[in-house]
Amino acid sequence: MRTPLRFITRSCKTVGSWQQGAFLTPFPTQCRIRRTSSDVCKEEKSYVTTPIFYVNASPHLGHLYSALLADCMHRYKLLRGFNSRFATGTDEHGLKIQQAADAAGEDPLTFCTGVSQSFRRLFSSCSVSFTDYIRTTEERHRRAVEHFWCTLRDKGLIYKGSYEGWYSTPDESFLTSTQVADTVDTTGQAVKVSLESGHKVEWLKEENYMFRLSAFRTPLLDWLQKSPDAIQPERFRQDVLQWLQDDLPDLSVSRQRSRLQWGIPVPGDPDHTVYVWLDALVNYLTVVGYPDDHNQWWNVTRHIVGKDILKFHAIYWPAFLLGAGLPPPRRIHAHSHWTVSGTKMSKSLGNVVDPFACSRAFTADGLRYFLLRRGVPDSDCDYTDHKVAKLLNAELADSLGGLLNRCAAPALNPTQTYPPFCPPSFPSEWDGRAVPEDYRMLDAVQSLPTSVERHYESLHVHKALEDIASCVRQTNGFVQRHAPWKLNGKDSGDRRWLDAIVHVSLECLRIYGTLLQPVVPQVADKLLSRLGVGADERKWTDLDFLPSYRGKDCPFRGRTLGPDTGVLFNRLESPSGDKQKPKKIKKQIISRQTN
Ligand code: MSP
Repeated sequence: MRTPLRFITRSCKTVGSWQQGAFLTPFPTQCRIRRTSSDVCKEEKSYVTTPIFYVNASPHLGHLYSALLADCMHRYKLLRGFNSRFATGTDEHGLKIQQAADAAGEDPLTFCTGVSQSFRRLFSSCSVSFTDYIRTTEERHRRAVEHFWCTLRDKGLIYKGSYEGWYSTPDESFLTSTQVADTVDTTGQAVKVSLESGHKVEWLKEENYMFRLSAFRTPLLDWLQKSPDAIQPERFRQDVLQWLQDDLPDLSVSRQRSRLQWGIPVPGDPDHTVYVWLDALVNYLTVVGYPDDHNQWWNVTRHIVGKDILKFHAIYWPAFLLGAGLPPPRRIHAHSHWTVSGTKMSKSLGNVVDPFACSRAFTADGLRYFLLRRGVPDSDCDYTDHKVAKLLNAELADSLGGLLNRCAAPALNPTQTYPPFCPPSFPSEWDGRAVPEDYRMLDAVQSLPTSVERHYESLHVHKALEDIASCVRQTNGFVQRHAPWKLNGKDSGDRRWLDAIVHVSLECLRIYGTLLQPVVPQVADKLLSRLGVGADERKWTDLDFLPSYRGKDCPFRGRTLGPDTGVLFNRLESPSGDKQKPKKIKKQIISRQTN
């Protein structure tokens, strides 16, 4: 039975879609099984990647952020019923790594293995649920790079040429005269530096293999015109279009072996080493079985990359792929960087934030929530321990945890069940207890999955979390407004109203828990388990909010709540709004990386 429209229009002027029966239409995109003409079910696939991380230094907070965005996308796709792969790993070749291994007094492979394991440890401690882990020193990768190189070479896209120009060893890249600037070094000597990285450059002349990048300016522009959503957010797409207005000189794709031994030799010419960026980019293909078996995954690829490496992913890589006869990535999501107390994070400044220490201080989910809630892909974001504690206390401990605690505590919920919801009690036909704000809250929660879906899809996770946090606040307002603790449980009208309030609030919490799974998997699990929601009832298709309202069966009605009555998220010791650092976590302000 559905609440008659007659009543609604009479009782509440500010009616929204909720009252007007929006619930008659199910959520728009519930199922990811596509039917072909022969009616054979074809599962949809998703393949999401992080950049592979350099192993010349330990993992830091920025690395973790790239990985969390990818993890969130992967978990979201799984919830939507996709067959999803999520690849990450380590970038182990190149001069920087050769030098770091030398400095550590280790052979390069042993050194790489150690740092690569530390990335794996970080990911496992922060619930980064990758399905594939790639190291560029693996044999399968060497085979893929060799095959990719030979394909480009056989198509006449790689030629041997003499290169003369500015070279930055730390960046391992050649630069044009417009990319360098004059300055003085610490001894007062005049030097030239890369405008982009600030690293010193030197004049170099050597014979290299060159890739015909210049031939790809038009194909790249065509690609970006045909796929306007290929690079996101928009401001980064504009950057790429701007870069494509300039000349696109051919690209050096090898280094003399005498200068760089730690890398893959050029097929058929052992005096040269494959350029580290070409080597590294091919990892995305290696993971999905290139050259034998990549097709089924390659056309659903999404790369997540920091803004500093956008040019490599949005210009060089698509050009290499087009040259090799493969489609460019379906989507590239670029993100901005984390600063610390307003300053760029850097080893030399000693302000690198250690993600291991942060996840110990704030829990893995706490750190995940902060980075994804406050990380805005379009612009740089700032990290301080104080901001983390303040946000987590406000949104996870007080707002979400407080709501659960109120509605599941024996005082309001003596039977420890999902209480019944009697449709006439909401809206209350006979005593008009529900007010317009209540309907607005229901509207907001009903449309939440659609907006969260849009934001997860575009990887604007912070916007999804903003919408969820706003709904949690509204549900708390609903409970506060009606003060169910003041109702008389012995009066049948009051009892029905009390049950309706608790039922609606638990339904809201079920929706929030389900939607939060990609961001805070442990907290969401704890919340849903406390509500008695089974492991097989947490998918996108289960986001059917408050079915009792439409007179439909609610599978949770009468369900016994889960036994874990513990606090959902512990408050962190934090001062009330002043700039002082939280005492308990003061020691965790990292001046040096420890792992
Ligand atoms: N090895 C290359 C990527 C090759 S992919 C074929 C590389 N590695 S990296 O370790 O230097 O960076 C990996 C990722 O971490 C990049 O997406 C980079 O943008 C990100 N971050 C590094 N510092 C960062 C911040 N301070 N903040 C956010 N992310 C940042 O580049």
